[in-house]
Amino acid sequence: MRVLQANEQPGVLPLGSAYPAPELLPSARMLRMFSKVARQRPDLLSAGTCTCYNDARLVRQIVRRSLDWGGPLDAGELVVTNSCTEAMNLCLRAVAGPGDTIALESPTYFVLLQIIESLGMKALEIPTHARTGISVEALELATRNGAVKACLLIPNANNPLGCIMPEENKRRVARLLAERGVPLIEDDIYGDLHFEGDRPWPIKAYDTAGNVMLCSSFSKTVSPSLRVGFVAAGRHTSTVSTLKTLSSGVTGAVPQAALAEFIESGGFDHQVRRARRAYAQQVARMTDAVAGHFPAECLLTRPQGGFVLWVELPRQVDALDMHRQAVAEGIAFTPGQLFSPSGRYRNCLRLNCGNPWNERFDAAVRRLGQLVRERAAG
Ligand SMILES: Cc1ncc(COP(=O)(O)O)c(C=O)c1O
Repeated sequence: MRVLQANEQPGVLPLGSAYPAPELLPSARMLRMFSKVARQRPDLLSAGTCTCYNDARLVRQIVRRSLDWGGPLDAGELVVTNSCTEAMNLCLRAVAGPGDTIALESPTYFVLLQIIESLGMKALEIPTHARTGISVEALELATRNGAVKACLLIPNANNPLGCIMPEENKRRVARLLAERGVPLIEDDIYGDLHFEGDRPWPIKAYDTAGNVMLCSSFSKTVSPSLRVGFVAAGRHTSTVSTLKTLSSGVTGAVPQAALAEFIESGGFDHQVRRARRAYAQQVARMTDAVAGHFPAECLLTRPQGGFVLWVELPRQVDALDMHRQAVAEGIAFTPGQLFSPSGRYRNCLRLNCGNPWNERFDAAVRRLGQLVRERAAG
């Protein structure tokens, strides 16, 4: 939390947290959608319900969009949540309890590790390749003796590696986990933000057993503060839906309705196309800058989507230590240690590429490159 807070201090250049630049988000259009909803649906604010409230139009749009990847999702399995983070919390609680082991990619998005820890569960790191994602063979071994209670994966444009699992591997994971009765919680928040080709399918598309709980949100495409997400929970829907009611009641009716308007108007599809182009360019600019300014022995990922870049530094460099100095100089990044429960990736860092490129970013990457060189030498 200290790293995240330091990254978000005013004036610190936002290379830390994975947020898109405000100018890349459709905020003006969303505000118009909110006005429209306020005019047309004043009843929404006063309507009370204590059981799961899904906006039917939003659900219809989520189901419609799932046709792009071999869906459709079943409207009956959808639970609208306050973000992807809430969705994953609910799923974990639905299928596991304190002391249970959850298998994850390594490295993985650090908040997943914090959630697991906060629920008294244990994280098991599965080796993950920067191009092809989690090792299916390692997952097969890890799930052999029944010790893994659930899996929590980011198969599309993984955070932090940016990789998209090959479709064949997704099919194998779906089959393996269904056969072994290990539920999969799938974080597909970057699934729409692939750089090339068709929309990659989530593992959910290969699931015929209702074993996969697909979680996502509109934080990376529409607004990180809208706090609207969802889970398609398969055979765990009833449990997830009850836990949702217990944990936060219902998700705000007004944001759901505004989002439904936005998607129905075609605004969301347009926004996704625009964001994909922008992120692909920004990742390419960041890659060039790191390749130019960091020592030659550094290794970089080649993200296939999303907007983060992962860099392996020379062995001697401690990224957490370097982070302190960088933040003091007004530059954020996320140190590699956060992405592993066992403190791996000490000499790695993640850079946010959510911002259009300019001189300030170039100067910051040059400075980070100097800090790496100094530490590698000393
Ligand atoms: C992989 C991944 N999942 C989930 C989230 C959080 O999503 P939300 O804002 O919807 O809770 C993030 C944000 O960085 C993320 O990178």
